[in-house]
Order: sequence, then C-alpha cells, then structure tokens
Amino acid sequence: MRPRVFVTRRIAERVRAELAKSFELDVHDSELPPPRAELLAHATGCDGLVTMLTDRVDAELLDAAGAQLRIVANYAVGLDNVDVEECDSRGIVVTNTPDVLTEATAEMTLALMLTLTRRVVEGDRFVRRREPWQWAPTFMLGRGLSGLVLGIVGYGRIGQAVGQRGREHGMHVVHPGVLPLNDLLTMADIVTLHVPLTDETHHLIGERELSLMKPTAHLVNTSRGAVVDEVALARALADHRIAGAALDVYEHEPDVTPGLLEFDNVVLVPHLGSATHEAREAMGLLCVQALRQVLVS
Ligand code: GLV
Ligand code: GLV
Repeated sequence: MRPRVFVTRRIAERVRAELAKSFELDVHDSELPPPRAELLAHATGCDGLVTMLTDRVDAELLDAAGAQLRIVANYAVGLDNVDVEECDSRGIVVTNTPDVLTEATAEMTLALMLTLTRRVVEGDRFVRRREPWQWAPTFMLGRGLSGLVLGIVGYGRIGQAVGQRGREHGMHVVHPGVLPLNDLLTMADIVTLHVPLTDETHHLIGERELSLMKPTAHLVNTSRGAVVDEVALARALADHRIAGAALDVYEHEPDVTPGLLEFDNVVLVPHLGSATHEAREAMGLLCVQALRQVLVS
C-alpha cells in the first residue's frame, strides 16, 4: 500500500501530478478550506498531511489522523497555524516552504509600498468615480522612494530581500538589528513587517508603536495580521497619526476591522504575498519533496 496523503486545498496541477506518483492522494479540491469536521474526517488514516495556513494543526487534528501520521507538510513559510511542540512530542515531522516565496513576498511588499507612496489605488478609485480631472503640476502628488527611510521589522529572508529592493530604489534601510524598535518607528518613512507570528510578536505594532511613527509615515504588513493591533491602527488612521497603511494580512483573516475599509489611504489585498504561479508551484514541490523524504524509501 502506498502512503496516504490528504491535501487540504486545490493545488497546482503539476504538484498534484507529482503527489499522485508517490501517494494514495486525497485532495480537497476547492479554494475554500474544508469545514473542520471534514478536515478531521479526511485526515483519518493518513500518513502525511499537506496543510494550509488556514488549517489549525493541533492535538485534535493529530488525534483524528491517528498514530500512523508521520509528517505535516505546511504549505507556507509561517508555522503559526501548527502546534509544532505537539507534533514534536508525537514524533511527527513538520515542514514549511521557506526561500521559494521570498522573492514573491518581497515584490508584493514593494508593490504595496509604491501603491501607497504613488497613490495607485486611490487614483484608480478616483478615475472609476468619473470625477472630473486634468493633468496638473500639483494634482495627486505622492513621494519618491529615493531618500526615504525604510524600517524593516523582522530582518530574516524576506526582510532582507525587501531591504535589497529598497536600497535599489535609493532608500535608507534600518532594522532592529542595528537600532531599537522605538527608534526605527520614530525614524522610518515606511515601516514594513516581516516577523513570524509568535506570542512575542502578537500586537507588536499597537497604540504606543503607532504613535511613535511620523504622521507622514506608511505601514505595510505582509507578515501575519495579528502582528498589528487592527483597532489601534484604525484609530491611528482616523486621527491622522500616520499617513496610510497597506495590509496583505488581517488580524481576523479573512475579516477586516470595519473602520479600515473607510479610508482612501489604506490599501487592502487578500493575502497575496506568495501568490505567483512560480512561488506557489515551488511551495507545492517542496511539500512533495518533504513527504517523499519521510514516507517513501
Ligand atoms: C504565507 O503567508 C506563508 O506563510 O507562506
Ligand atoms: C507626464 O506625463 C509628463 O509628460 O510630464
């Protein structure tokens, strides 16, 4: 009998084909997560699981899967949805998908930075409203990136890739490795977040941190929603304590704190950091590799 693997979401055809070569495959072929009961039922009897960041991997799921489960391949770089300690204690291998999504996530971060500083989404909404306008020297001005201070909170693989791109655009890069977070927040024209979500980084950016930022500064979050206190962010925006924000991730994803929807200087995208065909396929192939290493041989 070939090892049994359940994949909790639709995946690229090439990844599915690779998995089918080695495993008895069950795929939840939808862009929406399986309801919890269905997840638990399909995990039952599996040797390996391919889980998404929206699936809570905890003792309940591991119990439902059964003692033969040997690997949880999490289709994400972040592991905040996985109780890694619980998996460790049962001898279950946990893997993630680093590196292959670094470039894609850094590019999305740069896209959001430019969208804010050059008012791209605001301009798009303006044109669609059919408001009258003419080119004018003072019309809808933004800021160039060159010379701005880019504060990178979380200087790991993705943070460094964002730093490299910032420097290529003439930005001055600062990160907590070189100066305390408070100073970074005080200095930065753009603050971008690249930390994993842990107990230490939950609400890392809250009321106090937002009030340290310049009124002209922008906040970009492509990490995890709960790193930012969204209610505090909405308040800071309402009080014009910062100039704007771009969010790819949400504290109560996929819900958005309602106040945030009202601002023209807020850009919201639906967790697309790694959403390129290339990155998503490579993430899938890393999962395949990990499953084969643990389950085949
Ligand atoms: C995406 O957010 C990931 O962690 O891969
Ligand atoms: C802008 O479109 C310019 O030509 O200056």
